Amino acid sequence: MTDGTGTASAPVRIPEETTVGIIGGGPAGLLLARLLHHSGIGSVVLESRDRAYAEQRQRAGMLEQTTVDVLRRCGAGARMDREGLVHDGIELRFGGRSQHIDFPTLADGRRVTIYAQTEIVKDLISLHLSQMSDSAPLLFGAEVHSVTGIAPGAAGEDGDTQSEGEEAGAGTASARPALHYSYEGRERTLLCDFVVGCDGSHGVSRSALPTSVAHTYERDYPYSWLGVLADAPPSCEELIYAHSPRGFALHSMRSPTVSRLYLQVPNGTDPEAWPEERVWDELDARFALESDPDWKLHRGPITSKSVLPMRSSVTEPMRYGRLFVAGDAAHIVPPTGAKGLNLAVADIAVLADAFASFRATGDTGALDAYSGNRLRRVWRAEHFSYFMTTTLHTSPDQSPFDTRLQLAQLERIASSRAAATELAENYAGLALLDGPGEGATDPRPFS
Ligand code: FAD
Ligand code: PHB
Repeated sequence: MTDGTGTASAPVRIPEETTVGIIGGGPAGLLLARLLHHSGIGSVVLESRDRAYAEQRQRAGMLEQTTVDVLRRCGAGARMDREGLVHDGIELRFGGRSQHIDFPTLADGRRVTIYAQTEIVKDLISLHLSQMSDSAPLLFGAEVHSVTGIAPGAAGEDGDTQSEGEEAGAGTASARPALHYSYEGRERTLLCDFVVGCDGSHGVSRSALPTSVAHTYERDYPYSWLGVLADAPPSCEELIYAHSPRGFALHSMRSPTVSRLYLQVPNGTDPEAWPEERVWDELDARFALESDPDWKLHRGPITSKSVLPMRSSVTEPMRYGRLFVAGDAAHIVPPTGAKGLNLAVADIAVLADAFASFRATGDTGALDAYSGNRLRRVWRAEHFSYFMTTTLHTSPDQSPFDTRLQLAQLERIASSRAAATELAENYAGLALLDGPGEGATDPRPFS
């Protein structure tokens, strides 16, 4: 048997039951398994893709302080601490000028870290396979088709919502939750006490929430991002968010030798329409500075190129009976605010604490509060991501008046400490929960 990387691995134990069945082995699912393990709670992670695919999927790069703290607390911070790039702020470019936004000064000493999601996933998978695979199996190539038996009515649930004709077969409210999945050509069932959907925006868990209970709020944007990875050293030490008459551009990085760059492009753009030179020329044009006309990006071979649509979406509630949803399975943000992975990690940190509290005391209070608590934070991040997106991008139907409004807002951020503080606090990240100590994180180690 192989683990998807081509290397031989020990045969995987196929579990038939567990305490928490986790759908999806992205950052949310892997982190949850790790945190539950620290609290002595068993879990099984079912991931539809193979390991190689999960480890190379290009996505997030910017981690809030809280995300860094959670990864450290669960023992997955060693390589991030060695290789991550700690940043004190971001640069905004607009109207041909540049403005540094200093996070430590404006946001209570907080900083952010550049460390790729691909590396976090590799770190979590490697910890999982080396330390937890006996107690918390992780199956790659295991695609969940349906979820049954989650309706309210048993211990540890809201009793106040009714199932809307739960699935045939597991039909009664007292049935045990079950994940039905295919693995190595066979249909299988995993019985659980709880199910957590960490299966991203195209998964199955969200559709297991009955339509009488759940509602999804969404918004599409009339533009996409062309994202490229280049073997070129970053062109400056910080991320640069650029507003320009030609559209938005973002300068980010993965390491001292690899740049990650994004260009706003029309929806439906074919990446093949963007050969290397066109990408670099357009980036240079969008990052142009009046005060330094010679400023140019460091160029190098482009090693990957893809087009990403932009969407905002929130599904409420984030819990129904014995099913919880977390991360992209529950909410999507456009990437301009760099919030998606950070929200997923925050959901999981709160949910894992709630499971630990239930296990220790039998009290369901924290599990019952999960959806409401997280939705307050999710909507704040949704607003910030929408604000960053609509302030920095050019709509296809944008009028000169709209552009003047964007520039007035960017001027305000550049000239008012209050406006810059609002941006810095949201970007660097808020506390996991409302209340005293906003912005603070819990430094306790899990083990
Ligand atoms: P996912 O990463 O989508 O993982 C879900 C997993 O579930 C996948 O492995 C999938 O294969 C699996 N799955 C799906 N269906 C099934 C099924 N039926 N059965 C079993 N398994 C299933 N966020 C930030 O915080 N900072 C950033 O800087 C940032 N930049 C971004 C840049 C880009 C270009 C993009 C696209 C996103 C960015 N994000 C960023 C968002 C971030 O990548 C996501 O929010 C994050 O991946 C969410 O993690 P997740 O575990 O919830 O979902
Ligand atoms: C990234 O490095 O991929 C990245 C950084 C910040 C964003 C989006 C993406 O806002």
